[in-house]
Amino acid sequence: MQFNVINVFGLTYVVGALVEDDFPGGMYINAEKPTRSIRYTPYQNEKLIIISGDHHKTGQGESTDKHYQNLQTYAENTFKVKEFVYRWSAQDYSTLDKVPFIGYLTDSNRNILVATGFRKWGMTHSHVAALLFRDLILDKENPYETLYVPSRFVTDPSVKRVIQTNVDVAKHLVKGKLKKPTKKVDDLKNEEGAIVQVDGKRCGAYKDKNGKLFLVDSTCTHMGCEVKWNSGEKTWDCPCHGSRFAINGDVVEGPAERPLKQVQEGDL
Ligand code: FES
Repeated sequence: MQFNVINVFGLTYVVGALVEDDFPGGMYINAEKPTRSIRYTPYQNEKLIIISGDHHKTGQGESTDKHYQNLQTYAENTFKVKEFVYRWSAQDYSTLDKVPFIGYLTDSNRNILVATGFRKWGMTHSHVAALLFRDLILDKENPYETLYVPSRFVTDPSVKRVIQTNVDVAKHLVKGKLKKPTKKVDDLKNEEGAIVQVDGKRCGAYKDKNGKLFLVDSTCTHMGCEVKWNSGEKTWDCPCHGSRFAINGDVVEGPAERPLKQVQEGDL
């Protein structure tokens, strides 16, 4: 029986800072909430301190800029920060039983190998995947083959999580359609995006730094949920299954395969 379901685990934020402190090396994760992890990487003869955390489901939660601010405040309270050099966010995937899929995509097709659902533990599981793939290709026994097999069926808590996930999708599908936009295109400042009302219809609008307007249909092309503006990354994010789109509607990340429809003000 095949039960290959993958969930979008959500967005996690990262900042890279140069600090005056002497970082001792190693990698750390706190036990309390909110979760923060700290490590470093060599950077121009210095140590760049990498701090990550502030996870939330894609397309859900508060202003995404706020998450970077939270991490920067944490960094400043923990180190003597000289400069923030980088910031980025990453979208992670999880399986329903939280154990990655590593192995043959299906029982019957032994030509495609898959490694996914690392749930933020990519540095560890990429090594596990490499060793397991090596053994599968060479037809050698590996004690972890059955643990990670993508075609496994785990009834609990998988079934419960399938139901919870679908309830969450339904909730966002309905909520997104009912919520009336309060902004109009003229209300937007440059480099601001929002769901707006244009001639009575919902649209995603963004004005670039020169005031050029980008208007897209705010209905996700995957299964019809309403996308939300991500101010930190300047993308349109779908709260249902995590698809993400650029300001002109192009797909940044699936499962959606088609871009958001571009809209001209006169079309409406
Ligand atoms: S409806 Fe599924 S990702 Fe948007």
